Amino acid sequence: MLKLVLPTPQYLDSVITAIAEYKAHPSPFDIHCINKMIDTQKDNFKTYFQDIENKRQGIDLPEGHVPNTTLWLIENEKYIGSFDIRHKLNDYLIKNGGHIAYQIIPSERKKGYVKAGLKLTLDYARKNLNIEKALLTCNYDNTASYKAMISVMQEWGGEEISPSFIDGHQEHRVWINTQPK
Ligand SMILES: CC(C)(COP(=O)(O)OP(=O)(O)OC[C@H]1O[C@@H](n2cnc3c(N)ncnc32)[C@H](O)[C@@H]1OP(=O)(O)O)[C@@H](O)C(=O)NCCC(=O)NCCS
Repeated sequence: MLKLVLPTPQYLDSVITAIAEYKAHPSPFDIHCINKMIDTQKDNFKTYFQDIENKRQGIDLPEGHVPNTTLWLIENEKYIGSFDIRHKLNDYLIKNGGHIAYQIIPSERKKGYVKAGLKLTLDYARKNLNIEKALLTCNYDNTASYKAMISVMQEWGGEEISPSFIDGHQEHRVWINTQPK
């Protein structure tokens, strides 16, 4: 069964295997929480878990950052990918980043996982963070991410708004309801 969990040492073996995969197949669109995971040494996960928890609780946030919940997508005890939910938007996130970011391990891509995981994440955002509509953004060249967000938007409802121009590139922007139609 596919589920979302808060990061926990229970899945660490699988996560360490995933980190090796992420490192071997970097993407220009790798998200922040994955880079953070990749930088974590095998024996230093205690700090990683504490950092994730602090961000969730809004403790010691860097200037301009908002609280963020990181969730792991798990199937049959195996780590499949990560989903980040920013609890609220600021001026930067409205243009680049939005509420939700995601990444699937390379060997599990093109199997529908991001769409399934995004629906679980939207549901989590509504039930736990009172987010009724989530903004998603992606680089204009990120076809897979764009297709995924449009597909879920068409199923659950929402709207695409005008792209933003930021840091020399264009970002698609899509609002998605956090519960099915
Ligand atoms: C983007 C990403 C999360 C997609 O995950 P995924 O599990 O492979 O996506 P899905 O299998 O659910 O497919 C989503 C859609 O994209 C399409 N797709 C998947 N990979 C694709 C590719 N490389 N090129 C074009 N389309 C692609 C699928 O066919 C599907 O389209 P459909 O809705 O018309 O059927 C994954 O490629 C990834 O982790 N990339 C690196 C990090 C990243 O880009 N994160 C998003 C930042 S905004």
